[in-house]
Amino acid sequence: MTDGAVTRRIPMKTVLGRSLLFLAVSCSCVAPVAVAAETPDATAALDAKVRSFLDAHGGRWHEMNVSAADGKLLHDLVLKNGYKSALEIGTSTGHSAIWIAWALSKTGGKLVTIEIDESRHREALRNFAEAGLSDYIDARLGDAHELVPKLPGPFDFVFSDADKDWYKNYFVAISPRLEVGGCFAAHNAAMRDRGIREFLEYVQGRGNYTTTIDKSSRAGVSISRKKAAD
Ligand SMILES: C[S@@+](CC[C@H](N)C(=O)[O-])C[C@H]1O[C@@H](n2cnc3c(N)ncnc32)[C@H](O)[C@@H]1O
Repeated sequence: MTDGAVTRRIPMKTVLGRSLLFLAVSCSCVAPVAVAAETPDATAALDAKVRSFLDAHGGRWHEMNVSAADGKLLHDLVLKNGYKSALEIGTSTGHSAIWIAWALSKTGGKLVTIEIDESRHREALRNFAEAGLSDYIDARLGDAHELVPKLPGPFDFVFSDADKDWYKNYFVAISPRLEVGGCFAAHNAAMRDRGIREFLEYVQGRGNYTTTIDKSSRAGVSISRKKAAD
């Protein structure tokens, strides 16, 4: 024994226990992040699963869901811009969420989607699982009026498709947490609805956004790109 130091043998069981505890604490501090399907095989398998789900459900979207054309528009928007942090307001049974999450599975992103109606939310969860996309979607049941202002963000893609008379409020709440280069898309932009008009007038008057309206479908999708910080 030197310098009064005490050499104490630590039993192997304790060492193992401490290592496991360290591992558990370390892992629990890392936020779960969705990653892009990692190998070409995994990507191809997921693509095939989503496509076959969409083909099988093609005629079965009856809960105010977007058309396949609008779903593809959202998918392409996310993929082309490499968006990774998406928010959808108004899940319904999950058609648009599936198109968005499919693109996110390629960019390495994740979607938060909010629905107030419990039975639609539950059906959406079943659809996400069947399409193989659950890992890319955080589906929340609740009132978006309350949940949206509390979301920390930041987001780079938002799709608004719930109550039209609240579109402007959703935009005002989320804009400070929308990244420059990101976009706020809104469904039914071609509708003659007072809430939609009010939202479009507001967003078109914002100097740091450029808004275009895609009218390739009857509903129309407005796409407001953020050019500079608020
Ligand atoms: C047009 S549907 C959404 C369709 C969906 N994006 C799709 O394409 O599959 C609108 C949905 O928004 C939901 N909704 C309406 N007001 C809401 C609110 N305040 N909070 C959350 N969801 C709401 C409705 O229950 C409805 O299911």
